[in-house]
Amino acid sequence: MVGVDQVLSQLSTVIDPDLKKDIVSMGMIKDLEVNDGNVKFTLELTTPACPFNEDIERDVRTAMAQLKDVKKFDLSVTAKVQEGRDLSADEALSTVKNIIAVASGKGGVGKTTVAVNLALALAKTGAKVGLLDADIYGPSVPLMLGMGKAALQVDGNKLQPADSHGLKVVSFGFFAEQEQQAAIYRGPIISGILKQFLVDTNWSDLDYLIVDLPPGTGDIPLTLAQTIPITGILVVTTPQDVASSIAMKAIGMFTKLNVPLIGIVENMSYFKCPDCNKEHHIFGQGGAKKISEKFNIPFLGEIPLSTGIMEGSDTGKPVLVTDSQSVNSEAFMTAAKNIAAQCSIIAAKMKEEISAEATTK
Ligand SMILES: Nc1ncnc2c1ncn2[C@@H]1O[C@H](COP(=O)(O)OP(=O)(O)O)[C@@H](O)[C@H]1O
Ligand SMILES: [Mg+2]
Repeated sequence: MVGVDQVLSQLSTVIDPDLKKDIVSMGMIKDLEVNDGNVKFTLELTTPACPFNEDIERDVRTAMAQLKDVKKFDLSVTAKVQEGRDLSADEALSTVKNIIAVASGKGGVGKTTVAVNLALALAKTGAKVGLLDADIYGPSVPLMLGMGKAALQVDGNKLQPADSHGLKVVSFGFFAEQEQQAAIYRGPIISGILKQFLVDTNWSDLDYLIVDLPPGTGDIPLTLAQTIPITGILVVTTPQDVASSIAMKAIGMFTKLNVPLIGIVENMSYFKCPDCNKEHHIFGQGGAKKISEKFNIPFLGEIPLSTGIMEGSDTGKPVLVTDSQSVNSEAFMTAAKNIAAQCSIIAAKMKEEISAEATTK
């Protein structure tokens, strides 16, 4: 009759393609019960948004099918997002498993459009997602989500984020009057506001908090990197040489600050002609891929240049909400899954480092 050891050794032949480790030693098999030829367990994936989730489940079923003595096999699949940041070093935000800061070298590359649609894409996979609009000089998240001037609620001494399409949202744009004044604020005040948005907000349990940074390398990215541990930076760029070279400068700064780079997404990569179905590379080709090779950071996706994406952003109806099956939404879904996979990789590395440290102590 089949036993626990036999099941585990069979399952340890299944390798997670991202983490490059077997699923048993990664602790992905939970509640294993082996009873009189009946096998039952839960496969706990590292994120609901992993691009390989279906492959892993299929490999588990194939592996189990090879055990001859199994009469009945009962598999549940769940996902528990792993912590991609040192929560023990951050008491204030200890319920936020990953913080992903979206940065760009210059404005107008579609950073906010990408941040908003990626947040929605992650939420669509079932993850709990927050979106912090930290672009104090040009907060456009409320506009893109069609939120108008949502009033921020205060609960006790904490800000209560607004809800929009399943996202928890905080934006400097919620403070109508202050918006005009933002341009004259100086470093320390700006840093103080950001810290409040991070620390004095009741974010509750989040798998991913996406932070839309202002373009460039000013006070906000610096404050963020120095205030709390973050999972990493996602760089958005467009194919033009100017955008690429400015993106490289931003990457250089984050590298100096020792903040991990999750990867790079290229926006406005190509235009797919609705008549001939061909992809036209209007702004050139391969810019972001070159950066990813040069700095050895993952290339996570290409978003097409499209009137649908533009209208979605500019009218407060993001494509992920209005047209979730479209080519545009698919492009965001793919990028979001790649980002989630990178966060799982960062989380696994961190876990390894912590346990290595513990054993050397
Ligand atoms: N993939 C895209 N295709 C077409 N228009 C886009 C795309 N991404 C962004 N835009 C448009 O470009 C403008 C700038 O985008 P935005 O997200 O505000 O950029 P940023 O935050 O980098 O300043 C907006 O009008 C937006 O609708
Ligand atoms: Mg923006």
